[in-house]
Amino acid sequence: MLSEALLVSAPGKVILHGEHAVVHGKVALAVALNLRTFLRLQPHSNGKVGLNLPNTGIKRVWDVARLQLLGTSFLEPGDITTPTPEQVEKLKEMADLPEDSANHKGLAVLAFLYLYLSICRKQRALPSLDITVWSELPTGAGLGSSAAYSVCLAAALLTACEEIPNPLRDGESTSRWATEDLELINKWAFQGERMIHGNPSGVDNAVSTWGGALRYQGGKISPLKRPPALKILLTNTGVPHSTKALVAVVRSRLLKFPEIVAPLLTSIDAISLECERVLGEMAAAPAPEHYLVLEELIDMNQHHLSALGVGHASLDQLCRVTMAHGLHSKLTGAGGGGCGITLLRPDLELPDVEATKQALTSCGFDCWETSISAPGVSVHLATSLDTPVQQALGGL
Ligand code: MEV
Repeated sequence: MLSEALLVSAPGKVILHGEHAVVHGKVALAVALNLRTFLRLQPHSNGKVGLNLPNTGIKRVWDVARLQLLGTSFLEPGDITTPTPEQVEKLKEMADLPEDSANHKGLAVLAFLYLYLSICRKQRALPSLDITVWSELPTGAGLGSSAAYSVCLAAALLTACEEIPNPLRDGESTSRWATEDLELINKWAFQGERMIHGNPSGVDNAVSTWGGALRYQGGKISPLKRPPALKILLTNTGVPHSTKALVAVVRSRLLKFPEIVAPLLTSIDAISLECERVLGEMAAAPAPEHYLVLEELIDMNQHHLSALGVGHASLDQLCRVTMAHGLHSKLTGAGGGGCGITLLRPDLELPDVEATKQALTSCGFDCWETSISAPGVSVHLATSLDTPVQQALGGL
């Protein structure tokens, strides 16, 4: 077990194309966002385990001795396993959550307990530690906040328990893990995501782990060789959603109307593939026509997503407002509100972008220009983090 504090961060994500279809085995294209979640792990010898989530006001402390009694099922070494319903019930008791603890606060506590007990089970005794997680990402907005949370937890707990090495060398301010360690982080993070979302595809935790831009299909991750240098306006409608509920909406529509909905998923798959092809061409020799194709793909996908049942009046408004400025938008992530992306063509003048932002802000939306393809999960020297982050983590 480590003796010093550990600082880890992981990015959120934007899905360019393929949300929802990816749950049904189709291709998704996703990029890491330059908004991150930060985690500080402080080892102790006080017999306690603390979880502190300042964004949501959660502060919990458990006695290690009590957690140790929780049940041997978490403590048996073996493969990475999906939590059984009995394990989830035991965790809910330990977390002291009400029966209907389906809100994201309760689920974040459950995911923490599950990852702590499962990852630390190989230690002779469960370790005493304090974990604080703070995020720049809004929750329930489709930007992968729960995946970034699970990735940070998995990376920090695996490192603290010396299942993977701390890659930070003397003199370095930040560092990343080797591929095989990232694979282990990603596998555990996926289990954390399952606690939160039920049946996720795994794309969110994959992009948060690896960073950059990637193509994801059925668990297979292929980094895009040259990440797209696209400029995107990211807009948060402020309408919260539950990814789990929206994934269930699509599943039930697919079951009810298989002949109508399956072709929509196939068409979204084709949109992702066409987008990947165009991005590849653009990396070699960008031309204005490429942007016209990307815009058409955005429009078609947005209509498909609405037909799948994951649109929202706020997203329709976002699309109308940006279209009035000649720009094309689609939802990103689970939909039902949350965030949308708008493609910013390189020919746009600054005043055009500003006018669009102004129009979106006056609808009550938050919007900002983003840079994409941020680095994946990383470990940091405490002093290398910006002061606001250090303060949010409770001082270092
Ligand atoms: C959520 O960011 C993306 C969805 O496709 C769900 C998933 O892939 O697990 C809606």
